Amino acid sequence: MAKKASKPQPKGKGNKEGVRVLISRTRIQRRITEMAREIRKDFPDEPLHLVGVLKGAVFFLTDLGKQIPGDVSFDFIAVSSYGVGTHSSGQVRLTRDLDSSIEGQTVIVVEDILDTGMTLQYLLRVFEQRRPKRIRVAVLLDKPERRIAPVRADYVGFTIPNEFVVGFGLDYAERYRNLPDVGILTLGATEKSAAKAV
Ligand code: IMP
Ligand code: MG
Repeated sequence: MAKKASKPQPKGKGNKEGVRVLISRTRIQRRITEMAREIRKDFPDEPLHLVGVLKGAVFFLTDLGKQIPGDVSFDFIAVSSYGVGTHSSGQVRLTRDLDSSIEGQTVIVVEDILDTGMTLQYLLRVFEQRRPKRIRVAVLLDKPERRIAPVRADYVGFTIPNEFVVGFGLDYAERYRNLPDVGILTLGATEKSAAKAV
């Protein structure tokens, strides 16, 4: 049985949907700069191929990519797993493949959040079959409490508690991706019952 998806809980006052800042934009940027240094230090002389998982990882990848000196290229892949709500179906499907081959490359998979691990487990299987030189995983956020698949990231921005978060690329039904901070989504009573029905 799959673990229950972390549903947004009503933490705010009243009935309004809202977002409470968990990680500020300043902390995010500072940590991304550190991660970029760490990645380049681990591979000082190699071209790095960053593969971002659409759409959540877009802001993370662009900010990370700008901070890694030297030879860096990008590509994107898209998967669907969550649908429109906050419940994971546990099923991962490739909806957009990479533009180019990763054979022989040093690939850094860039993902917004490592939650159950189902998405990254699926993607790592797909990528390994394509014979890259090596694969590393960089995630902005890690929710270790929710792990089902035995996946770990090589570079983690922030380890967070089991809360549903939005912002800096992360969405709730495609909304809130544009927030510059990462925040905990707080739902009012009406929205909460709607989220349950998803
Ligand atoms: P996993 O397959 O369960 O590890 O989930 C990975 C994907 O689920 C992420 O790329 C997100 O798109 C989504 N996800 C997981 N947790 C959250 C969250 O707290 N907020 C928004 N999206 C999430
Ligand atoms: Mg995602």
